Amino acid sequence: MAFAVSLLLVFHFPLPTNGATKLVEGVCKEAVDYATKGTLSYGSCLEALESDSRTRSASDLKDLAKIALQLALANATASKAYIDDLLKKNHTAAIEKCSFSYKFVVGSFWSALQELDEDIMTANYDVKIAGDDASACENELLSGGVKVPEISRRNNDVQLYSSIGFVITNKL
Ligand SMILES: *[C@@H]1O[C@H](CO)[C@@H](O)[C@H](O)[C@H]1NC(C)=O
Ligand SMILES: *[C@@H]1O[C@H](CO)[C@@H](O)[C@H](O)[C@H]1NC(C)=O
Repeated sequence: MAFAVSLLLVFHFPLPTNGATKLVEGVCKEAVDYATKGTLSYGSCLEALESDSRTRSASDLKDLAKIALQLALANATASKAYIDDLLKKNHTAAIEKCSFSYKFVVGSFWSALQELDEDIMTANYDVKIAGDDASACENELLSGGVKVPEISRRNNDVQLYSSIGFVITNKL
């Protein structure tokens, strides 16, 4: 009986949060504060970082930076492909400008990833610029009176990764 009770205690108490969880939670709290007010949810930040199984065993901020920027790059690359595909079907000036902006979004995340080991200040700058280029795309849609919710959603994803990347590289 005592044994059963102690087993219950072991399995029903939450596991202590490990170092990686604390790192991720800290970064996401700051990313929410850093992002333009109300644009980034804590939950979507956690979800984004935890979508990579390596996050659970990240041992320091450098590890987490690499994971976040790789996620950012893959995500933006897929979005660029989506926009280019859309452009083939529907040649609209605003979508063309978005395709152009995403060349820079992808390029900036790529550069930031290369610079992690060499030049953290440039990485920090590039990761911020990626967000500005997604904003440029969003503004083109707005000023062109073109509503493409899927592109707007993807612009928000860039902002999410840009904020996460900025917060992490700021600490390195
Ligand atoms: C991009 O990231 C967002 C936010 O984490 C996610 O919801 C979306 O599914 C990702 N898209 C791709 C193509 O990976
Ligand atoms: C092209 O895209 C614009 C903006 O989304 C839309 O208003 C228009 O109807 C589309 N044209 C075609 C042929 O799909």
